Amino acid sequence: MGKPKVFVTRKLSNELVKDYEEMLDIRMWDKEEEPVPEKILRSQAKEVDALFTVLGDRIDASLLAEAKNLKVVANMAVGYDNIDIEAAKNHSITVTNTPDVLSETTADLGFSLLAATARKITEANAYVKEDNWKQWAPFLLAGTDIHHKTLGIVGMGRIGEALAKRATGFNMKIQYHNRTRKPEAEEKLQASYVSFEELLETSDFVVTVVPLTEETEELFNHSAFKKMKSTAIFINISRGKVVNEEALINALNKGEIKAAGLDVFYEEPIRADHPLVNMHNVVCLPHIGSASNETRTEMVHLCMKNIVEVTANKKAITPVNN
Ligand code: DGY
Repeated sequence: MGKPKVFVTRKLSNELVKDYEEMLDIRMWDKEEEPVPEKILRSQAKEVDALFTVLGDRIDASLLAEAKNLKVVANMAVGYDNIDIEAAKNHSITVTNTPDVLSETTADLGFSLLAATARKITEANAYVKEDNWKQWAPFLLAGTDIHHKTLGIVGMGRIGEALAKRATGFNMKIQYHNRTRKPEAEEKLQASYVSFEELLETSDFVVTVVPLTEETEELFNHSAFKKMKSTAIFINISRGKVVNEEALINALNKGEIKAAGLDVFYEEPIRADHPLVNMHNVVCLPHIGSASNETRTEMVHLCMKNIVEVTANKKAITPVNN
């Protein structure tokens, strides 16, 4: 019997995968930034024991039904809304994700995006680089303070807690909303639990860290933005589809909220002619929450280790569906 076959849907360096070649027969899509065409993904899925996927790869019920040898889908993300988890379960295919290893890095980015939006850092950077700086002026590019303000975290998981930890250093008042209360986090981070409505109404910064589920899809809609303070800043580091973007654009245009910092979008990649990209009070990033070299390297290793375990009929390290 040969080695278990793995198809990796993005190009990874040989250095990163060389340690696994002894155990696995690794094939790879040969482009890093271009997604694997669906036809190739489907035909590879029929042949291999394991898929190494990224969040742009749609792993639906029909692909899983045809993938007769497939034992594991290792998704290089903590979120797995790109995979039909129920269908995978029905076909006894293990799905794994990459929790924990990315929490601190994603919180770093979340807090940086909050600061960049509040203090107009990207706008100020463009101002200097485009040679618009003529004079110091009393209110030139004046932003909003972060310290001593109220931070509202929607979704108090590992990333939410790491974000709260950063906020304590800024003397922020921390409140959160979550499906379940987190007494330990409340004590450790001096965070108070509030209803979703209260969080929207009283936070200076509303940060969403919720996973995308049926429950959270378009959670941030017209009615949610209307409840926020007109001075509020909205930050999204979870998934674009938790926001109704038309409602967000409307809220920004009407001054119902002050600004937004977005790492994720309804359709990714977002194009430069999108209204959100062209608003001066919106900071847009290309979904780079976990994008540090250290963390992305750890995420690759965790995916590979999950594949090694499951293809050897052992328990996955970080399964999401069993
Ligand atoms: C995740 O892990 O879900 C991120 O969005 C990918 O960087």
